Amino acid sequence: MKNKTLLMIPGPTPVPENVLLEMAKSPMPHRSPEFSAVFDEVNEDLKWIFQTRNDVFVFASSGTGAMEAALSNLVNPGDKVLSLVIGNFGERWAKIAESHGAIAERLAVPYGEVINSVDLQKRLEEDVNKEIKIVTMTHSETSTGAVNDVKALCEIIKKHGALSVVDGVTSVGAMDIKPDEWGINVLVSGSQKGFMIPPGLAFLTADDKAFEVHKQCKYPGFYFNWSSYKKSLAQHTTPYTPAVNLIIALHLALKMLKSEGLENILNRHRTNAMLLRNSLRKLGLKLFVEDDSKASFAVTSVYPPEGMAVGDIRKILKNDYDIIVANGQNDLKDKIFRIGTLGFVSERDVLTVVSALESAIEKAGGRLK
Ligand SMILES: Cc1ncc(COP(=O)(O)O)c(C=O)c1O
Repeated sequence: MKNKTLLMIPGPTPVPENVLLEMAKSPMPHRSPEFSAVFDEVNEDLKWIFQTRNDVFVFASSGTGAMEAALSNLVNPGDKVLSLVIGNFGERWAKIAESHGAIAERLAVPYGEVINSVDLQKRLEEDVNKEIKIVTMTHSETSTGAVNDVKALCEIIKKHGALSVVDGVTSVGAMDIKPDEWGINVLVSGSQKGFMIPPGLAFLTADDKAFEVHKQCKYPGFYFNWSSYKKSLAQHTTPYTPAVNLIIALHLALKMLKSEGLENILNRHRTNAMLLRNSLRKLGLKLFVEDDSKASFAVTSVYPPEGMAVGDIRKILKNDYDIIVANGQNDLKDKIFRIGTLGFVSERDVLTVVSALESAIEKAGGRLK
């Protein structure tokens, strides 16, 4: 049977049917009062889901575009950026910083682990001349399934005086993250994750302190320039042609999320992730991040049973059950597989993937427990 695909990867995530249908409408002219009315509501609802009073800029790009927009608007060539690296996406920040002429230093831990606040504190205390201008980090590290304690890390960064720039691509709308309360200076995310719409939009919110630094940025670039987005937002629009149909989809998706309520959304992600983690443990499978307190609720990384190939498990899940789970990335490719519980995912989806997985492993001749 076709068209029953269950997307259990950490992005793109499933999109509700009514949101898909909303996207099928004829595009609105973007310089019209009708579009501005929708866009105003989207902006208010984005502030709600981002838990901030500051503007949230909407870019027509993938999440990496917002990461680039974060650093391109802040760094000058030769600036020092400290990147906290717990996986591929943490490393991406360092690469973006370097591509803008900054000097990136990595504070890294083995993949699967998270940054220890004591190590960050020590490094920042050594920086007596306050050379480190920006500290980047990932909240939910999608390549491993580990989650940094952003609140504690940002507290330490704030005391030092550097800016904190945080990747919330798989955490906004899935795990609690409070930029205003926790002192996060810049936070980014992407549409194909917790927002229940397809890929193509990226989001960025920056506070006043980050804007002060932005004013000193010599080459902020053109397309992603924060000042242009801020100016346009005050005029209820975007500086360039927005991805109109994605914004229309986002408008509806945010209304649906709002009616569920933030606390319920966060609880759903926690409950689903814990149901998945505990069910996998009961099957005798080993998790890449064992400690629940360091685990993402958006994605869970799993080792295959001994002697079994990740590729075989993924192939049976896809061919026999129409369920898609993700491979590991880079060095973790074929060593782990990753199951998303992010966005429009229900308890039934989790139970389905667990029993299909049990069956797939048995079919592939694997032994459980
Ligand atoms: C944590 C994290 N950061 C950044 C990105 C990059 O986003 P995109 O692939 O939309 O550019 C992803 C995408 O998977 C991600 O999971």
